[in-house]
Amino acid sequence: MTAAVHQAGGRIFLQLWHVGRISHPSLQPGGILPVAPSAIAAKGDAITFTGLQPFPTPRALEAAEIADVVRQFGEGARQALAAGFDGVELHGANGYLIDQFLRDGTNQRGEPLWRQHREPHALPRGGDRRGRRGVGAERVGLRISPRGEFNDMRDSDPAALFGRVATIAGHKGLAYLHVVEPVGTEDPLAPRLRAAFGGPLMLNGGFDGATAEAALAAGEGDLVSFGAPFLANPDLPVRLRTGAPLNTPDRDTFYGGAAKGYTDYPALGTAAA
Ligand SMILES: Cc1cc2nc3c(=O)[nH]c(=O)nc-3n(C[C@H](O)[C@H](O)[C@H](O)COP(=O)(O)O)c2cc1C
Repeated sequence: MTAAVHQAGGRIFLQLWHVGRISHPSLQPGGILPVAPSAIAAKGDAITFTGLQPFPTPRALEAAEIADVVRQFGEGARQALAAGFDGVELHGANGYLIDQFLRDGTNQRGEPLWRQHREPHALPRGGDRRGRRGVGAERVGLRISPRGEFNDMRDSDPAALFGRVATIAGHKGLAYLHVVEPVGTEDPLAPRLRAAFGGPLMLNGGFDGATAEAALAAGEGDLVSFGAPFLANPDLPVRLRTGAPLNTPDRDTFYGGAAKGYTDYPALGTAAA
């Protein structure tokens, strides 16, 4: 797959993801409890093999276990590059494990990690490569959703928290910062995060061709990503370039387990599936 993308002139990053508390014992090896920074259950239900079931109260990770999760991310990144990916994106958005650690609605382990972090000037830019087991920071992007409430998330001061995250990401020399902030958000954080980060900022959330062009022209971001429109339009770049109409995403097939709604939307000039 990575070879096919490269052959077509594309670049491809693999998203690395740990769901933390957004899970259920029935989905875990040995039926064990999901883990999280703190033992705080998310409001809502997990999608399990027997239907929706309430999220359980997770087990708080031990300090030594956190180091092991970090090591697993490094190993995942290394394997992704070995499989031909150009880089990896750390999923720090939408209420999954990294986001659970960042925000104080879910992390009550005391002084937040991001506050304990060494002052950025102590880090040489791009110099934090985590040794030979990981991959270079220039191959790593980070996705965040600073004000997103999905998966029962909240923080007492998202602007301060994510401003600091952006600064640290910049000093580590990450490839890009990917910000989920729906188009039209009042008082958007993205411009401030872009200044703090200092590298390529990717915008996401409800964009179409016109709003994406406008955001880029206004200097709000350097790149725009598309989720649902890409799902529904296998040839989205061509359609955006030529102004062709877009297929409408079918919400009923979102998050399903089969090919329907993922690989069966028609490209331009082909009959509907
Ligand atoms: C079916 C579906 C699956 C998704 N899976 C992921 C995912 O694995 N990781 C992620 O960061 N976002 C995921 N998202 C969120 C999208 O990346 C994106 O942030 C969201 O759809 C808003 O952007 P859009 O308006 O361009 O779709 C998913 C969205 C949909 C509809």
